[in-house]
Amino acid sequence: VLLAWGLGLRRIDLYLRHDRPLGEDDLARLRAVIAERGRGVPVAYLVGEKEFFSLPFGVTRDVLVPRPETETLVEAGLAAVAGAEAPLVADVGTGSGCVLVAVLHRVPAATGFATDVSAAALAVAASNAERHGVSARARFLEGAWLAPLRATDAWGRLDVVLSNPPYVVRADPTLDPAVAAHEPAAALYVEGSDPLAAARAVASEARAALRPGGFLALEVGAGSAPAGVQALAALGYEDVAATRDAGGIERIVSGRSPRARI
Ligand SMILES: C[S@@+](CC[C@H](N)C(=O)[O-])C[C@H]1O[C@@H](n2cnc3c(N)ncnc32)[C@H](O)[C@@H]1O
Repeated sequence: VLLAWGLGLRRIDLYLRHDRPLGEDDLARLRAVIAERGRGVPVAYLVGEKEFFSLPFGVTRDVLVPRPETETLVEAGLAAVAGAEAPLVADVGTGSGCVLVAVLHRVPAATGFATDVSAAALAVAASNAERHGVSARARFLEGAWLAPLRATDAWGRLDVVLSNPPYVVRADPTLDPAVAAHEPAAALYVEGSDPLAAARAVASEARAALRPGGFLALEVGAGSAPAGVQALAALGYEDVAATRDAGGIERIVSGRSPRARI
């Protein structure tokens, strides 16, 4: 990937044009990018792009690199809006915008809202929405969790809230040092020692933001799903469940806001 990017070629061209001589400029560019990779900088930051849900997303060092396990969150959202006429979807802590943009790209009838505390991340997300032709149906709002939506007419009417909030505790010895060194701290870490702290905040605010019967899905860290399920049940969510990612880890906790009773 780095060689193709550094030489301005497609990966297949590395084989088709294997006899192309390299100039000093080529070698200097490749040496620089390989040295950065050697320092642990994620490939996505070096090439400025990462594929997610079969779409290319622009990424900068202001956003988390989209992860394959987060595709399970998108799938949960897509299942929840299947058949809906004009669903309203929110993505809380949008980063690169990958979750909301993937949903809007798949569901042309959907309208979306994305929030983040990082203005720089929101700029990346907005440019990804533009790139994939969904910006007319997406609003990017700066602020904490769901707070920026309170002033919109979507409040209390959302069909779906999706979020991959930060879920790493600072002392976590299992966190890849390269991730800790290069990805934004605001995207990774929760305050304090509860990995579900941010997820609980989103789930609590989503109770008021969702319509009755609306769907909430949250990505959680490995091992946190049982406590996440308990937290959603304690907040009054119904049909609470945990879903495994492609690696077999319980990754998504979800539930429905209580339906109005007659
Ligand atoms: C784990 S990243 C997820 C990014 C993207 N949704 C993804 O899945 O790749 C969490 C995001 O939440 C944002 N964030 C952190 N605290 C927040 C808060 N209080 N309110 C809104 N967003 C927040 C971070 O800036 C970061 O972009």
